[in-house]
Amino acid sequence: MASVDTTIQLIRTTGRNARGEVQEACSPALARGPWDFDGVVQYGPGSSMHDRIPADSPRQGAIPEEYKLASTEELHERIRAAKEALGDRVVVLGHFYQRDEIVQHADFLGDSFQLANAAQTVPNAEAIVFCGVHFMAETADVLAREGQAVILPNLAAGCSMADMADIDSVEEAWAQLEALYGTEPDAEGRAPIIPVTYMNSSAALKGFCGRHGGIVCTSSNAETVLEWAFERGQRVLFFPDQHLGRNTAKRMGVPLERMPMWNPRKPLGGNSGDDLLDAKVVLWHGFCSVHKRFTPAQVAQARAEHPGVRVIVHPECPMEVVDAADEAGSTDYIRRAVEAATEPTTFAIGTEINMVNRLAAEFPQHEIFCLDPVVCPCSTMYRIHPGYLAWVLEELVAGNVVNRIEVDDTVKADARVALERMLAAKPKAA
Ligand code: 13P
Ligand code: SF4
Repeated sequence: MASVDTTIQLIRTTGRNARGEVQEACSPALARGPWDFDGVVQYGPGSSMHDRIPADSPRQGAIPEEYKLASTEELHERIRAAKEALGDRVVVLGHFYQRDEIVQHADFLGDSFQLANAAQTVPNAEAIVFCGVHFMAETADVLAREGQAVILPNLAAGCSMADMADIDSVEEAWAQLEALYGTEPDAEGRAPIIPVTYMNSSAALKGFCGRHGGIVCTSSNAETVLEWAFERGQRVLFFPDQHLGRNTAKRMGVPLERMPMWNPRKPLGGNSGDDLLDAKVVLWHGFCSVHKRFTPAQVAQARAEHPGVRVIVHPECPMEVVDAADEAGSTDYIRRAVEAATEPTTFAIGTEINMVNRLAAEFPQHEIFCLDPVVCPCSTMYRIHPGYLAWVLEELVAGNVVNRIEVDDTVKADARVALERMLAAKPKAA
């Protein structure tokens, strides 16, 4: 059976995007069902060839054939019926990057910060079905009340960026940094260094931050969180996304020379001791393969072809792209910017294709297109197929919790500390 995905089907059948332009997809395998590649050790179709999946990444086992053979209509009907039978006992959360076929069943749609909050607003639900990626489901489990089950419909839905910083490498880096900086606070009581992890990281790393006086951030609050950290520390170790760290710190006035990059495979991360002593933000060598595809040349092309275009990109894009764009912000920021435009506007958006196409369909008064002319969804978000959603929901109806994501209790307690610091951090009054 072909994959249930209108975006990809449109390309397969017509080779054209919503604007009638000929368009290609980054991988022909996108048109297949996820069960065709779930057994293979890889991130999924469209992922960068350079992303190396950790050997111990969760794998999705086979699901019953009936879900693979069902038509799109049948799957939607079964999802609706299961949700109705479960009522308030279940809540379905969907990230903006999910395919439309999943989004239509979500009780909450949002960015990773909003979904972390949403998970806390449903204490009566027995199960939270998280249509997103692994680190998001882990976060929901950390914040969930005792006894609530968090379910990830496809266990293979990870995040290549989150996998770029593992707990052993971060512990090792920390030991080297502590040896260099010491552990004593300065005259103003600020620690030598504060760890800050992007939400896109494992619960183990959030736990590390909780234990070491650190905090979590998302792309919608990174500046507030860095302010929080600079009040308490002389410098920050920011992981895993170098781009979000660099773009945010640069906007706050930190010079590039004071943002050395930490390569976990090299002693002192590949830096001299002096560079690290002068550092304000030590950036981990991680990135998102989806956002890395955007380039300043694409921005220039959009401006040349569409005079007056408003270019908005996600801060996971490289600095040169953010600098060339008009604005940068989280997925929710992008959504609100489009929603708030009162005059018909042309928008070139630098983020994941499912979200861009949805905005284009929802706001036909504007011309909205993706900066990247090649259609390439987030390969791991893409693994949440309606077949999996129908399966986990029908199992719940039958009294079975499948694909539960459970964070170890000690990690959970520390991770919660770091997440609660984030939820409590407020922007400085202007
Ligand atoms: P948001 O925090 O903007 O939802 O982004 C999450 C993400 O994974 C972007 O790649
Ligand atoms: Fe991870 Fe990038 Fe996908 Fe976001 S878009 S979930 S950072 S791989």
